[in-house]
Amino acid sequence: MQQKRLLVTSALPYANGAIHFGHLAGAYLPADMYVRYQRLKGTDVLFIGGSDEHGVSILISAQKEGVTPKDIIDRYHELNKSAFERVGISFDNYSRTSLPIHHETAQEWFTAFRDQNLLTRSSEQQLYDPEAKMFLPDRFVVGTCPHCGYDRAYGDQCENCSKYYDQTELINPRSLLSDADPIVREAEHWHFPLGAFQEKLEAYVASHEKDWKENVLQQVRSWLKAGLSDRPISRDLTWGVKVPGEDDGKVLYVWFEAVLGYISSTKEWAEKSGTPERWREYWCREDTKYVAFIGKDNIVFHCLMFPAMLMARDGYVLPDNVPANEFLNLEGKKFSKSQGWSIELQDFLDTYPADPLRYTLAMNMPETRDSDFYWKDFQARNNNELADILGNFVNRTAHFVDKHFDNAVPEAGAPDTVDEAFLASFATTAETVASNYERYRFRDAVVNTMNLARAANKYFNDREPWKTVKSDRAVCATTLNCSLQAIYALSVFIEPVLPFTAQKLRDFLRLPGDAPLRWDGPAEYRLPSGHRLGEKALLFEKIDDKTVEAETAKLGGIGAHEEGAQRSHPPLKPQITIEDFMRIDLRTGTIREAENVPKSNKLIRIIVDIGSEQRQIVAGIAMQYKPEDLIGKQIIIVANLKPATLFGIESQGMLLAGSTEDEGPVILTPLSVLSDGAQVK
Ligand code: MF3
Ligand code: ZN
Repeated sequence: MQQKRLLVTSALPYANGAIHFGHLAGAYLPADMYVRYQRLKGTDVLFIGGSDEHGVSILISAQKEGVTPKDIIDRYHELNKSAFERVGISFDNYSRTSLPIHHETAQEWFTAFRDQNLLTRSSEQQLYDPEAKMFLPDRFVVGTCPHCGYDRAYGDQCENCSKYYDQTELINPRSLLSDADPIVREAEHWHFPLGAFQEKLEAYVASHEKDWKENVLQQVRSWLKAGLSDRPISRDLTWGVKVPGEDDGKVLYVWFEAVLGYISSTKEWAEKSGTPERWREYWCREDTKYVAFIGKDNIVFHCLMFPAMLMARDGYVLPDNVPANEFLNLEGKKFSKSQGWSIELQDFLDTYPADPLRYTLAMNMPETRDSDFYWKDFQARNNNELADILGNFVNRTAHFVDKHFDNAVPEAGAPDTVDEAFLASFATTAETVASNYERYRFRDAVVNTMNLARAANKYFNDREPWKTVKSDRAVCATTLNCSLQAIYALSVFIEPVLPFTAQKLRDFLRLPGDAPLRWDGPAEYRLPSGHRLGEKALLFEKIDDKTVEAETAKLGGIGAHEEGAQRSHPPLKPQITIEDFMRIDLRTGTIREAENVPKSNKLIRIIVDIGSEQRQIVAGIAMQYKPEDLIGKQIIIVANLKPATLFGIESQGMLLAGSTEDEGPVILTPLSVLSDGAQVK
């Protein structure tokens, strides 16, 4: 089918934090580059975004700060919207899921599903935090993984073994909201029959085996292989889109309604443009191609859940591609705001222009694996590539034409084979780069774009106009004419990655009205001789070593760290009495045997001698300790803990160890050796 229009969406970021480089490189920059390229191709394209303003994390941010959720979303919606504008993400509409148009849309979808008898209302067991007085969302409960024994597994999926399970299956669950022991309670919820779409989804994914990215296919296939099951789509919360027909504080599960935010944002766009029904053109016509840009943590929702919802409603387009990126890290470590290991986009843009950042992120885009932003790399890309190659070529040309040709396009003489080959390379660049964008290969697209700037620099050098201006002015004029044509070509080809610089080039060229601002323009159009040029602008300022050193030193800085250190520890637990404490039987013991638990990379099985008996304990310390280093060490164990089975091995107690979010566990030992079985108080 001939595709007539293109719909592009980028994941709606939660409005409870500022977007950082990682988000940008993951789901926004590639989408924007793709959209800008498509606009130049003349494609009818609509680029949709907005803030995801519901979900429990927003509620919790608000509680922490002692403000309302509305305060939080208002703040971050504005902040992120303006950050996107400043960095040149050219959304056609940037909406909010707190708007009435979104609530109505999401409720309409729920009602339609319910009226189709698609949904079931059934009760399920869920963990409830008696202190925070709420049911615990999966990300707010940790415990020991029922499959591998990893002791910091979340309520939905274990980060160690990647297995999925129900939160009630966690061993020793702990609430991250209050640190209380959660209790199991029944809750009634609406369910969407994802399982019923298994076959349709399999066919859908199979039909994209050739064009979807390998990282995306892999994740989706493993879900399909495990078998899809019904998903709860309501939650007991006060913040969110009310479930129609319910009045007891039930809201739609944030993921169910957030993906519909793409549709409501399109509706908002259509209304604003005075054509309220036009949203259907993008969502409900077979000749629309839909591409959804996301980060890898959103794959399941965009490749299975949302498509199933769209299938269930008939007549909606499904994503043609979901080019999910992996993660971008910062100087070899994960972005972490609380540890000051982050760069705020807004702060960055107060000091540096957007284009060198876009360029650096595009050249390091985590397309197939995680990648990093390094300040040194940013400096090198800015100085050695943007300034020394692109900037230098444009500057030298502009300077020369101003000095020797009265700042107008010189009359071209008969081109020789070198000139001809140079001019012909514009068409080749157009083709190569286009094919990279069409296949979502952003880094390659930028490399190939920069190759034209490299070739132009070389052309200028080889032609030596500073010599021919004296020896053969006609040849010199031809060289400069071709160089200016190349600046026009670059102004088109760099637009997706360097839109602000592209505009500067166009301003300098004072592009005539008939000059096509189109992808195929450079292959066809030539600036006319005699055309007067504008003022040359400074394109890229170099960044010195001192600046880079200072920026690197700021990361994880002292202020940030102290604050972070406080925040990363769980709050203190409520007081207990001495009697409460005395119920715990702590004993010294010496490790006699230790071995790794097969098929687990976290667990070690030890035999501890506590004087009166030997205990077998399974502990999650294999990442920090080698079994042979443990033998003979005296430790402290909880001797009266009810046994638990991990990986089929009975664990008869627990050893004491300290840890924080990113340190440990570190095993605690007595300062000097006691006899085994000594009581610890
Ligand atoms: N807010 C989610 C996140 O940041 C993404 C939502 S994408 C949407 O991970 F499609 F659901 F909106
Ligand atoms: Zn696990």
